Amino acid sequence: MTEGNPYDRKESISPLASECPPPRRELQESAKETPIEEPQSTISVPPIINQKPKNEDSYQIAPELREYITRTKQEQTLEQERFNNLRKEIPDFERLESEFYQISPNTLFFDTKLQDEILEVIKKRFETLKQIIPGAKTLDFWNETEIDRMFGKGFNPTSLVTSAESAEWFSAKLELDGDEPLMVAELGCGAGWSTTMLFRNLEKIADGRKQYINSIDMSPHAIATTQTLLEYYGISYIIIANNEQRKQISRLIQTGELDSCVLLNLGNFDEILEKYPEDYFHGIYSTHGSAYLSEKEYEKVLSLISKKGKNDAIFVADSLNPLYTNRLSTPILLLQMLFPKVSKKILNALDVKYIFARKGLNNTSKYFPQNSEVKVIRIFNEERADLIINWANYLIRTLRIKRLLETKKSLSVTMDVVERYRSDVFPSTQLNRVVKNINMNANKTVFEELTNKPDFTIFLETIGFRVNK
Ligand SMILES: C[S@@+](CC[C@H](N)C(=O)[O-])C[C@H]1O[C@@H](n2cnc3c(N)ncnc32)[C@H](O)[C@@H]1O
Repeated sequence: MTEGNPYDRKESISPLASECPPPRRELQESAKETPIEEPQSTISVPPIINQKPKNEDSYQIAPELREYITRTKQEQTLEQERFNNLRKEIPDFERLESEFYQISPNTLFFDTKLQDEILEVIKKRFETLKQIIPGAKTLDFWNETEIDRMFGKGFNPTSLVTSAESAEWFSAKLELDGDEPLMVAELGCGAGWSTTMLFRNLEKIADGRKQYINSIDMSPHAIATTQTLLEYYGISYIIIANNEQRKQISRLIQTGELDSCVLLNLGNFDEILEKYPEDYFHGIYSTHGSAYLSEKEYEKVLSLISKKGKNDAIFVADSLNPLYTNRLSTPILLLQMLFPKVSKKILNALDVKYIFARKGLNNTSKYFPQNSEVKVIRIFNEERADLIINWANYLIRTLRIKRLLETKKSLSVTMDVVERYRSDVFPSTQLNRVVKNINMNANKTVFEELTNKPDFTIFLETIGFRVNK
């Protein structure tokens, strides 16, 4: 996909929207008591800037670009306030949120009552995106249905926590110089959960510096969903419409004129990375994004990372482990959700972390021998799994049935995604083999493996490298 092909698909209704009846009436009724602002929900289209500088030093910033940045910031602030007001309308929102953060402090709370609202905004952002980047093609795979599935990941703290942990690890490993702005690339923002958690983690280590995440995704549905989620969580963003705009934005960052934000790029990883200057990024992060590259494509992207990253830049990549899948036993899961303490005590006494099905599945990943067995998890009893069990238990105890069903659905979707994606995934730990070749060909250690990686749940894995120029 290039920055500039005609978009050729009619918008379809989101399956998530049709499956989940909207909580609209409830919201409208309570809105009567405290009237909230009528939703604006419009976001300006950035100007197409084609003017070229006479030379790099006398870079002129197009006045339309400055005007757009001011206007889009105002619009996003209004939207953030609207979401804040909607949250206030939800009975007990603060209590739910604080309970959730006690169970899962490092992730993100999303109240499923706002799901419908969010889906409406995503549709609007998608329409605007078509005007901004007239040309994105809807993909066969990362289409609206797939991004909806990814959006559902956010209702399940067990799904979110590994991305949160890898974002924390990535942030801790960054080498920052002086007070220069913190510049990061993200490969594959998906629905925006990882982008949001990465932004929050960068804030913790930025130490007063401005910070920019340059997120790249080839799916327009992913970009539109990420825009909406960033508005929901109060993070500013700019959509990069073309290369000239990208250059002028870089200039504004250099001169300290642009506030911290996410810069959203629609396109392939290699195509977009190519457009950035050399020695630009402190780090490149990808949670389940670059994992969908083939080995050949990965080699190309790694070579770009070594060029576009600064000396000492880091690259972190999470993926599924294709030799595991989940088919959790519903009765046991239900017992765990109803009686989390007792069931944990029993499973601990039996020294059980995972129980696998007696018979495994056939391996479908070309990265492992054909006769390898895929282990099927039936019961889990580990720290990260406790998050969803404890959250579900809280929802049961407080009779929040609709939220419970959404959480349960999110868990099923996650299991389904693990099963369906496992044959396509490039396992992160096999990147060792790829970088070994790169290092050998370069006759030096271009990529050096990072230590102390987080200990993920068994069906996920991560790896990180530091670039030596
Ligand atoms: C599983 S999702 C990532 C989800 C997100 N990082 C998270 O963990 O919440 C993978 C995303 O990567 C994008 N993607 C996959 N291959 C890509 C490529 N070669 N170039 C650009 N985007 C790609 C897809 O469009 C999709 O949105």
